[in-house]
Amino acid sequence: MAQGKGLKKILLSEEEIRRRVAELGAQITKDYRALVGQASWEKQLARPLLVVGLLRGVVIFLADLVRTIDVPLRYDFMTVSSYGNADSPGELLLLKDLVDPIQGQDILIVEDIVDTGQTLSYVQRTLKARKPRSLRTCCLIDKTPRREVEVQLDYVGFRLEENEFLVGYGLDYAGLYRNLPYIAALETR
Ligand code: PRP
Repeated sequence: MAQGKGLKKILLSEEEIRRRVAELGAQITKDYRALVGQASWEKQLARPLLVVGLLRGVVIFLADLVRTIDVPLRYDFMTVSSYGNADSPGELLLLKDLVDPIQGQDILIVEDIVDTGQTLSYVQRTLKARKPRSLRTCCLIDKTPRREVEVQLDYVGFRLEENEFLVGYGLDYAGLYRNLPYIAALETR
């Protein structure tokens, strides 16, 4: 793609991502079938999974992931934004909430990347307080060097220990590059 010019290197190819997403979907399918403990699809329908995506970066990963999960599910989205200023650096704000209550439901939070962990930690605390039946988290990329808070990650696509600025497959720089089909390190000078 023409916009690939400002990139240092491709870290995860389209094919690598596709394969790993399929593996995550298969694992999630297996685990949720076991959790529900019902063999028939009709009985599983009585207890559908709710996939909660965190906008906006997650859109592409979530769209691919849910199509590899073979249990009845619904999905909804939240938007959390960091609202850092001099008085309250790193304060998080819930800009968009889920449409329906989640009490008693099986929830799978889906996130594209976990960096400091602040966003996910906030969302996990917020949803846990609403008393779901179960709460698990799936992230495509667990980027560890800048972690500030420990978060529970049940399904991880890739763990990256390099502190690169990542773009592509939903990840952005100033809102751009999200439509790249691969994940790359941005050239930073
Ligand atoms: C990104 C990403 C995660 C968050 C991770 O979202 O999608 O939600 O940052 O960072 P953290 O672990 O340091 O909290 P961003 O706020 O850039 O919004 P976006 O999803 O619209 O790109």
